Amino acid sequence: MDVRPIGIFDSGVGGLTVTGRVMQVMENEKIVYFGDTARVPYGSKGKDTITRFSCQDVRFLLSQDVKAVIVACNTASSNSLDYLKSTFDVPVFGVVEPGAAEASKITKNKKIGIIATEATIRSGAYEKEIKKADSSIEVFSKACPLFVPLAEEGWCNNEIARLTAEKYLAPLLEKGVDTVILGCTHYPLLRSCIQSVVGENVVLVDPAYETAVRVREYLNKNGMLREENTKAEHKFFVSDTTNMFDRICSEALKENYQATEINIEEY
Ligand code: DGL
Repeated sequence: MDVRPIGIFDSGVGGLTVTGRVMQVMENEKIVYFGDTARVPYGSKGKDTITRFSCQDVRFLLSQDVKAVIVACNTASSNSLDYLKSTFDVPVFGVVEPGAAEASKITKNKKIGIIATEATIRSGAYEKEIKKADSSIEVFSKACPLFVPLAEEGWCNNEIARLTAEKYLAPLLEKGVDTVILGCTHYPLLRSCIQSVVGENVVLVDPAYETAVRVREYLNKNGMLREENTKAEHKFFVSDTTNMFDRICSEALKENYQATEINIEEY
C-alpha cells in the first residue's frame, strides 16, 4: 500500500474534468492538482516550450511527494509524455493512448474524428496511437482553439458555442465519422453542445475515464493503491489567481475547493 497522493497537472483548470474521473474511479486516493494558470494555453505553443513547462509541473508535483503523475493535459501528453517518462523516476500516465484505444474499440465504420488544440493535432499523437490499435481506421482531425475560451467563459451551451461547434465539426461530419475524441480537457465542459451538433449517432469519447481506469490498474498491480477508507484529502494549486477555478471546480467536481497559488518558475 502507498498512501501518498496522485499528482495531476494540466495547463490550467481544464484538467479538473480528468480529476473528477480519477476521484470517481479511485475514491480512496488523495490528489494533488496543479493547474498552470499563469502560462495557459499550452495548445498554441511549440513542443520545446510545452516540454519545459511540463517538466516544471512534474517537479512541483514531486515536491508534494506524489506516487504517480497523470498528465491530464492532452497537449502535454501528445508532445512531452515520452520525455517525462524517461526523465522522472515516477510512473507517468498520459491521456492520449487510453483515449485512442477506447475510440478504436467503439468505432463501427472505422472513421474517427479528433478535436483538440493546435499543438495536439500537429503532434499527430492520437492518429499514431489509433493506427497502432487498428491500422485500417481512418482519422480526421480538427483543431478547435475557440472551445477553450468559450468553456472558461462559461459559454458552454449558448448560441455562440453552438455556431462555433457547427463550424468546427462540419468537416468531420462530412467525412462520416461515427466517433469523436474530445482531445482537450476543456471540451467535456461543452459536451452537450458538441453532442447536439454531431447528433446522437456519433459517440463522443472523453479519454479521462479510461485514463483513470488504467492508473487504477497500474496502482493495484503494483500494490500502490491507498486502501485506507478514511476520507481522502485533496490539494489544489495554481500558478496564478484565477476566477475560473471556482466555477470549473464546481462544474467538474461538483464540489468547491480552495486553490493555493505557487510560483512555478521556482521548479
Ligand atoms: N489543457 C489543454 C489540453 O488538454 C487545453 C488548453 C491549452 O491550450 O493549454 O490540451
